[in-house]
Amino acid sequence: MGIYDFYRRPLSDGASVPESIAMAEPEIAISTSQPELGDGMSPRKATAVAAPVEENIFEVIALKPEQSVSDPVKALKIIREDLGDCTRCALHKQGRKQVVFGVGNPKADLMFVGEGPGADEDAQGEPFVGRAGQLLNNMIKAMGISREQVYIANIVKCRPPGNRTPEREECETCSPFLMRQIAVIKPKVVVALGAVAAKTLLAMSASMMQLRGRFYDFKPAGVRSNDPNWDGCKLAVTYHPAFLLRDPRQKGEAWKDLQMVMRELGLKAPKTNT
Ligand code: URA
Repeated sequence: MGIYDFYRRPLSDGASVPESIAMAEPEIAISTSQPELGDGMSPRKATAVAAPVEENIFEVIALKPEQSVSDPVKALKIIREDLGDCTRCALHKQGRKQVVFGVGNPKADLMFVGEGPGADEDAQGEPFVGRAGQLLNNMIKAMGISREQVYIANIVKCRPPGNRTPEREECETCSPFLMRQIAVIKPKVVVALGAVAAKTLLAMSASMMQLRGRFYDFKPAGVRSNDPNWDGCKLAVTYHPAFLLRDPRQKGEAWKDLQMVMRELGLKAPKTNT
């Protein structure tokens, strides 16, 4: 079956998951961290929905050089140049080949944020180009859109050695650049892929069980968009594709998250032949 084949497979609750997501993935060793695993077996706590962090009124909003630039392509270029051959955190001396900035539509309505580059991403300089990226592409396609229409980035822009989970300090050092990218792109929805992305973007600590299943009002921390009409966006949390490759039974849950995003964006899944 090709990766673009698309038909629906029933779920136990009567819903269905697109075949492009549902298809069995070959067994592969993915050493990307799976923070979801820690709470993957616990029952969903209906009453324990995490509340978004209150806006910090003391937060310093620094003026960034890209804020005077209206063209998002140019603004993103300014952020990329500011990053340079980054040495701000320890990851630069732990075997990374290059900084993996982000890819996609600079005016995207929808952004996906992962954890950090793996070996394929480090080699190619683009996020989500390995096996997890293939599944992410299928998830995007199942939503009725293409990879080129969205913007994809990570919390950390350099590959953690052995694909370990990025340290909190690495996330805190790198994520301000992602926040600036988000403020330039001004998406309608950000989808956090996995616990590292969710916890960093939302600045909160909770399990995936608690974080999924709702929208958060999101404003990129420490930066303001130069567009007075953009006052932040919605943020949804779903499972990381690498986790879904390891535990395909959770694909139905991820599809529910994506359907929530599709409703928000007015997207319709493509028609199938079955
Ligand atoms: N996993 C991530 O979190 N990001 C990538 O770019 C690839 C794999």
